Amino acid sequence: MAEPKKNRDSFGSKIGIVAAAAGSAVGLGNIYRFPCEAGNNGGGAFLIVYLIVVLVLGIPAMLSEFVIGRSAQANPVGSFKKLAPKTAWPIVGYLGVICGFIILSFYSTVSGWTLEYIVKSVANDFHGKDLAAIEQDFADFHNMGWKNVLWQAIFIFLTGFVVFKGVQNGIEKYAKILMPVLLLILVVLGVRSLTLPGAKEGLTFLFNPDFSKITGKVLINALGQAFFSLSVGMGAMITYGSYIQKNDNLTTTALSVTLADTLIAILAGIVIFPAAFSFGIRPEAGTGLVFNTLPLIFNQITGGYFFCIIFFVLLAVAALTSTISLLEVVVAYFVEELHMTRKGATVVACVANMALGVFASLSLKTGTSIQIAGLPLFGALDFFSSNILLPLGGLLIVLFVGWFMGKKRFYKEVTNEGEVKLHVKGVILFIIRFIAPVAIAIIFVSGLVK
Ligand code: TRP
Repeated sequence: MAEPKKNRDSFGSKIGIVAAAAGSAVGLGNIYRFPCEAGNNGGGAFLIVYLIVVLVLGIPAMLSEFVIGRSAQANPVGSFKKLAPKTAWPIVGYLGVICGFIILSFYSTVSGWTLEYIVKSVANDFHGKDLAAIEQDFADFHNMGWKNVLWQAIFIFLTGFVVFKGVQNGIEKYAKILMPVLLLILVVLGVRSLTLPGAKEGLTFLFNPDFSKITGKVLINALGQAFFSLSVGMGAMITYGSYIQKNDNLTTTALSVTLADTLIAILAGIVIFPAAFSFGIRPEAGTGLVFNTLPLIFNQITGGYFFCIIFFVLLAVAALTSTISLLEVVVAYFVEELHMTRKGATVVACVANMALGVFASLSLKTGTSIQIAGLPLFGALDFFSSNILLPLGGLLIVLFVGWFMGKKRFYKEVTNEGEVKLHVKGVILFIIRFIAPVAIAIIFVSGLVK
C-alpha cells in the first residue's frame, strides 16, 4: 500500500469529499447539456437509456476511478505509473489529461455565457421580452464573438485562481454551501414550469418514452452524457479519489455523488421541457434551449428579477466547481509528473486552455469557418471528448480495475482493508469485470458505426 505523502492535500471532512465530487459532477452538464441531449435524442427514450447507463456503467466507473486514485495517491498519469509500472497503462492517464484539457476549452465557453447572463439579469435585460426578442439577444451575443471570449477568459481565470489556492482552501469551501441552494431554486423553477399552460406536453416528452426512438446514436449520446455528467472517464475522479481519506467509504461516496447528479439533471429536465413546450421552443433547439427558456420562465415568476440573478450566479458557481475539477487534473499532472510549481502549472494550463478555447467560442458565430468535419469546433470538441474519449477512458479504467488490479486489491480498497462491510462487493466486481466493459464496447461500436 502506498504511503500517503504528507505534502498532498486531502479533503477535510466526509461532507467535503461528497460536496467536492458532487460539485465536479453537477454543472452545465446537468442543467445545460442534459436537456439539449434529451431534446435531440427523443426525450423519454433518451432518459430511460441514460438512467440505465448511469446505474450500470456510471457508478462502477466512478467507483473504479476512486479505487485507482485513493490506492495510488496520485494524479491520473502518476496513478497508473504507480499501480502498473513498466506497462502501457499510463497512456490512460495521458488520455485523461488531454481529454480534460479539451473539455475545459469548450466548457469554459458556456461557463462564460453564465457570466453574461448574470450581467443581463442584473440589468433587467429580459424584462417583458418575448421569445423572439430573447432568441435574437442570444444570437447577437454569439455573433459578437469577442464578448464570448472575454467572459470565457474571465471564467478560466477564476478557475485558475481557485485551483491555485489548493484543494482544501479552494474547492471544498465553495462547493459545500452553494450546491444545496441551487437545488432549491431548481425546485421553485420546476413548480412554476409545471403550472404553465401546455406544460403537460413537455412532461410527456420527457417521461413517456417512445422505444422505437432508441438507436445507436441515442445509445452513444446517452453514454457520453452519463460519463460527462458524472465526470468519469478521464481521471477527474481518480484525482479527487486521491484526496479521499483512507477511512472514507468509497462506495457510498460514489452512490451519493451519482444520486445528487442524477437528481439535478432530472430536475433540470422538469424545469426546461414543460416551459419550452409552453413557450413554443422546440426541444431540439440546441444551445438556445436552456438559455432562452430560463429567462422566459423568470418573466413569469413573482420576484423573477431576483430569482434570475441568483439562478445564474449559482449556475456559474456550479460550472466553476466543475471547471475546477477539469483544470485540477491537468495541474496535478504538471505538478506531480513534470515537477512544476502549483502556480506555474496553473498559469501554463490556463493560458494553453485559452489558446484553444478562443476558437471554440468563436466557432459559434453564424456562418463560421472554424469547423471540423462539418461541425463548428465547439461541437466537434464536445463530440470527440464526450462521445469518444470518455467512453474509451471509462472502458480502460474498468478493465484496469477489474482485470489488472485484481480482486484482492479491489476488495481491500473498497472495504478499507476490511473495516467497511460491503456485502455486494462481489456483484460490483462482476459488473466492473464483465458487464461494464462489454456494454461500453457495444454502445461505443454501435455509435461509431452510425
Ligand atoms: N460533470 C461536469 C458537468 O456535468 C463536467 C465535468 C467536470 C466533467 N469534470 C469533468 C466531465 C470530467 C467529464 C470529465 O457539468
